[in-house]
Amino acid sequence: MKNVFLLLSLFICAVSVKAQTEKLSLDKNWRFYLGDIPMPVIKGHEVSYSNAKAGKAWGAADPQFDDTEWRILNLPHDWAVELPFDSTENLAQGYRKRGFGWYRKNFKVDISDRGKHLEVQFDGVATNATVWFNGTLVHRNWCGYTSFYIDITPFVKYGEALNNLVVRVDADKQEGWWYEGAGIYRHTWLVKRNPVHFITDGVFAQPLKQNKTDWIIPVEATVENITKVNSNVEVESALYDKEGKLIAQNKTIASVTALHQTIARLSLQVSNPQLWWVDKPTMYSVKTTVKRDGKILDELTTSCGFRTIKFTANDGFYLNDTWMKIKGTCNHQDHAGVGVAVPNSLWEFRIKKLKEMGSNAYRCAHNPPAKEFLDACDKMGLLVMDENRNFNTSPEYQRQLEWMIRRDRNHPSIILWSVFNEEPVQGTEMGYEMVRRMSVVVKNFDTTRPVTAAMSNGQFTPLNVSTAVDVVGFNYNYQFYDKFHEANPELLMTSSEDVSGLMQRDVYVTDKNKHLVAAYDEVKPPWGTTHRVGWKAVAERKFVAGCFVWTGFDYRGEPTPYEWPTAGSNFGIMDACGFPKSAFYLHQAQWITDKPVLQLAPHWNWPKDSIGKPIKVMAFSNAGKVKLLLNGKLIGEQVVDKYEMNTWTVPYQPGKLEAIGYVNGKEVSRFAVETTGEPASIQLIADRNTIAGDGWDAVPVSVLVLDAKGRLVRTANIPIDFEASGPADIIGMGNGDPNCHEMEKGNKHTVYNGLAQVILQSKFNGKGQFTLSAKSNGLNAATITINVKDTVQTASVAAIKPSFGISGGWHISPFYTTKPAANLEVADNDMNSWNYFWGNYLVDFNEGDFAIFRSKFKPFFAQRNEGGQLVLKAVTGKAEVWLDKKLIAVKSNFESGDMVVDVAASPELSERTISVLVEREKGKKAGLEGAIEMKPKE
Ligand code: GAL
Repeated sequence: MKNVFLLLSLFICAVSVKAQTEKLSLDKNWRFYLGDIPMPVIKGHEVSYSNAKAGKAWGAADPQFDDTEWRILNLPHDWAVELPFDSTENLAQGYRKRGFGWYRKNFKVDISDRGKHLEVQFDGVATNATVWFNGTLVHRNWCGYTSFYIDITPFVKYGEALNNLVVRVDADKQEGWWYEGAGIYRHTWLVKRNPVHFITDGVFAQPLKQNKTDWIIPVEATVENITKVNSNVEVESALYDKEGKLIAQNKTIASVTALHQTIARLSLQVSNPQLWWVDKPTMYSVKTTVKRDGKILDELTTSCGFRTIKFTANDGFYLNDTWMKIKGTCNHQDHAGVGVAVPNSLWEFRIKKLKEMGSNAYRCAHNPPAKEFLDACDKMGLLVMDENRNFNTSPEYQRQLEWMIRRDRNHPSIILWSVFNEEPVQGTEMGYEMVRRMSVVVKNFDTTRPVTAAMSNGQFTPLNVSTAVDVVGFNYNYQFYDKFHEANPELLMTSSEDVSGLMQRDVYVTDKNKHLVAAYDEVKPPWGTTHRVGWKAVAERKFVAGCFVWTGFDYRGEPTPYEWPTAGSNFGIMDACGFPKSAFYLHQAQWITDKPVLQLAPHWNWPKDSIGKPIKVMAFSNAGKVKLLLNGKLIGEQVVDKYEMNTWTVPYQPGKLEAIGYVNGKEVSRFAVETTGEPASIQLIADRNTIAGDGWDAVPVSVLVLDAKGRLVRTANIPIDFEASGPADIIGMGNGDPNCHEMEKGNKHTVYNGLAQVILQSKFNGKGQFTLSAKSNGLNAATITINVKDTVQTASVAAIKPSFGISGGWHISPFYTTKPAANLEVADNDMNSWNYFWGNYLVDFNEGDFAIFRSKFKPFFAQRNEGGQLVLKAVTGKAEVWLDKKLIAVKSNFESGDMVVDVAASPELSERTISVLVEREKGKKAGLEGAIEMKPKE
């Protein structure tokens, strides 16, 4: 009989489950508190007994905690970038206080979701975090760069009851020597799936070349079954091109036992696909479905690209069997104005800038990036060295590495897995043994890409990491490239980090007192090289697969060569906004071969007393010869040195400094800098004129100060006021000056050497036109209009109004045959006479007719001060409601009904006791079946 019941309930559960997998954003409407909230001290019988029980979290982790006074915000969120610079804070973190913060969010889950697999996903939290769901500690985060996925299915409440997600973030924990931000700085999701489903990141489908024309895609799909019975399923994969045309298809069967996972394997055959190249990154998609009895249970679409990669000992790197020098940059993940909470579209902006420079590769230093960044690299064609953060082989850290490979292994852009950066043990047996193990962890999940490690030395010790990796990564130490290659001719090599050249945008005089670094590619730290020396060392050695210049963009923290008040690095080829420094043009000249490049340093706005004085002029060009003219007069002509570039000393005269590039005697390029007039007007240039009104899309707007003739005044440093109106917001501002301490949030910012950046983000459900105006005393103001396009919104978990659910902590008394006193006391050490009551169901009273339901609760601040309304839904049986031993409501019929009673303000009572004495109708069940809430006064 029991089995029949079980089958029946499973059947009911199965039919009520929709096949559709839903991924809902959880980003909106979090409550945030900056600072830590200590947990209450645990003393006494009852509290000690309940302290560590499931569902019984304390303090701010308690679902009923009063967060109504907290700030409301949307994720992604980096609180460190909102705070002022502070000389007493860590320079490595950009002199920004990090500290602690708490986030809380309530949401409802529909009754129709009962039976589904429900998962909460955090894409990235900086740094350590503790996560509670409905009062149960469900995860501890030990890495600020790895995502974590939490199966909340057993803990979920359905229907009207509130589900409560709490995150305590410890951002004082540091994992880097750079700015790491603070808070839930990547996206969050609630995923609802069939109980038989693919796990997150559960499909691996990476094309492998078989011969000249034929490829296979071995598909591995991990199916999980959380039902109570074993399940036989059919797994099917289909490959589609970008037009949506079906290219290949195959299926297999698998069997998944209850509460287990299984990997279904099948293979797709493909002939003559379009290849993925950095210049033409053709992507395909693989739709994998799991079915039972013909019905789709879950569906997961991954993307893939057809490409081969090969590192060789003598010739370096090949993409699709075509030799290619890796021209990469290393980068951290913060951007001006927004810190590490980088909107997806800003990744695309940054990649676009790097590609404009002629770069074809990116090293995620020193941690796994946002998923959206990798999607953009696939789409836009940028090779990636994906890097693990924590070098450690113990289980938790192994999990972090596994996560990275599993999440990222479908990206054609990824060509290298890096297991560490500059570890002190790199030249030791310990380092060797650790890398050997970590390499196996990688290979358990992906054998198609080599493992590397970024070694800063140790390559010549008797036993070191270089023999445990597939490709040896050299950080700096270019003077040892040859020695290492000669000693290890069979080992594959790349530079994993080089240069670390220092410069500021449009600064041409190094001044220690003012913390200025000239942009002539001359300044470098002791361990680094200039850009020119670094590139030459790599370019001239075919066996070095490529370079990864430190860095593409400036980043906060690690201020070098100056410290406070300098708060950011000067290593960038671009500044923190993505405005080019001289190094940008230098790399363009060296890396771009298919179109003419010609640029000059410096600007030509020197003070009057510089007239006649020598000014160093550099031309960055890929032409054969460059001629330099000042005000039409020839200064000189030089054959272009493709590594060193060309330099002249020119006595300053205001006017026009012009360069002309020639190839075989023919003019191919021309570039001029002119002495400008005084600042006269502001110009705003949006990177795109239309953005999606989805609340996520963001666009950087360049702010330029121009002279009366419309020329950029590259020496202007002027405060600007911004005003925004319409369906978008200013989410951050910056100007690329590492010495600038202005707030990055708000609506005022100074241009630095003629430029600043304002980042705008559309509002949710935004549509229409957005205007940004900029004004400054004495300058012509500017206004631009950006179209905000009505767009389908990212599906989101519905926001709910704060309401106070008295959902936890209920107890039920023994059953009495005669009416007991509603307020009878229970001894503090008596844990067993009364039972826990989890609410929302009717109770079978067995032998008695009376029972008391009791809970202690702490009303919200506003309810204490203003009073509220106590609502008990679906009370079955006659009932008396007592609040702090006072009778406040009576229900004198047995039928199910709601009880609503006003509660007066009582600021002095922080904790209240509610007792509901219920009398059942003889022989029937009774009790509290519905939600119990304290609502704000109507
Ligand atoms: C490297 C290190 C980078 C950065 C750089 C600065 O040694 O890997 O993270 O610190 O130096 O030059």
